[in-house]
Amino acid sequence: MKKDITSRNDIEQIIKLFYDLSFQDERLGRIFKEISPLHLETHIPLVADFWEGILLDGDKYRGNVTEKHFNVNSLTTLTKSDFDDWYSYWERAVDILFEGKKAEMAKFRARSIADIMSYKMDYINQQTKS
Ligand code: HEM
Repeated sequence: MKKDITSRNDIEQIIKLFYDLSFQDERLGRIFKEISPLHLETHIPLVADFWEGILLDGDKYRGNVTEKHFNVNSLTTLTKSDFDDWYSYWERAVDILFEGKKAEMAKFRARSIADIMSYKMDYINQQTKS
């Protein structure tokens, strides 16, 4: 039986595996490597701050995650299918490494955030089309 998520180090493992997997995806890989290139040394700690706040009661994250993705969306239109693919790599990374209540929460919250972001991006993209 796998263990559950209990530390920031666990969260960082998920994020690293998530990027290992998604960098190999044609579309997401292109976004992460070329369209809005990620600098993983600084990006991973920020994403870990974000998830520590959700899963382990941390309060280090000071960014605006939706705003960041509006910026990405202005470089390339983010669609529901992009968010679904994003989620499928996140789910896979969590499932490969962990199991338990926090692992379920990591997937459930990611799905909800992805759905909300997807809805917001669709809304903005419809407005800018008409
Ligand atoms: C289509 C799906 C997604 C794509 C293509 C994507 C892409 C990106 C990119 C390129 C950045 C770096 C932006 C920058 O530094 O200017 C970023 C940041 C980030 N993303 Fe995503 N993302 C997606 C979905 C999500 C979802 C669903 C979550 C959360 C559940 C998430 C969490 C984050 C966080 C926490 C950051 C760091 C924000 C910060 O720098 O303050 N992303 N994303």
